[in-house]
Amino acid sequence: MQTLEKTNLTQAALERLGGADNPRFKQVMTSLIRHLHDFVREVELTEEEWFAGIQFLTATGQKCDEKRQEFILLSDTLGVSMLVDTLNHQKTTGATESTVLGPFYVPGAPEFPNGANLAEGLPGDPTLFSGQVRTVDGKPIPGSEIDVWHADAEGFYDVQRAELQEPQLRGKFHTDAQGRFWFWTTRPTEYPVPTDGPVGQMLLKMGRHPYRPAHIHTRVSAPGYESLTTHVFVAGDRYLHSDAVFGVKDSLIVDFVRHAPGTAPDGTQLDRPYFTVQYDFGLQPASPA
Ligand code: BEZ
Ligand code: FE
Repeated sequence: MQTLEKTNLTQAALERLGGADNPRFKQVMTSLIRHLHDFVREVELTEEEWFAGIQFLTATGQKCDEKRQEFILLSDTLGVSMLVDTLNHQKTTGATESTVLGPFYVPGAPEFPNGANLAEGLPGDPTLFSGQVRTVDGKPIPGSEIDVWHADAEGFYDVQRAELQEPQLRGKFHTDAQGRFWFWTTRPTEYPVPTDGPVGQMLLKMGRHPYRPAHIHTRVSAPGYESLTTHVFVAGDRYLHSDAVFGVKDSLIVDFVRHAPGTAPDGTQLDRPYFTVQYDFGLQPASPA
């Protein structure tokens, strides 16, 4: 029996993968074991630190339920989610860049006609969001679906408000024959990612703030095209350069233009200042199956 030391233990653990018959699984586990062992050696992990890590991961799992995914939040705040996004969504010219989905997407949002107001009766600055969905060479894509969701004026999503029974500030729109869509909502605000769990404690210990710059989430899809999950960020937000989840890309930062009370471009009369934001989404063709 060979005594396993800090140098040959890694090789021994790797050899135990000999029976793995899925080559991709074997490749991923080989790399994971190598990097984990190198990490432990590099920082000379103490037993106390090892156990603190176990407790942290346990608490992360215990914080998860059907509405809360603390492990995804961990991945987001360590930059892993955006790294996976970047590796898997290399965009061709004309295609809109993607960013994180986030934990507040809810499938099956209510459908609205163009021009509808997602924020009827809610506080916040009225905002008309309009644009076109296009192919990478600029042709309109009629009938595309745009699924939209964002936080309210206090920085909370509907699913974070236990008192709400109905969806709020989320809905689906479809583009017209010219590929256009438009809807009213409120101008989003910056907000913190959930900090009442182990990830919040980790951020605090790292000396990091938990804020995301103001944004509107969109998922744009059309038959024959790759679905796009992205955000539109409000230009000028103070957290654009330090997003807690590293999700900002320059091409997704857009001016929300302030207007005096009057008639908006869609004919709506406003007796208070309002904003307009215009953004066109480019979809690339779906890769052949
Ligand atoms: C969000 O934008 O909704 C979000 C993304 C990642 C972590 C937390 C929130
Ligand atoms: Fe968000």
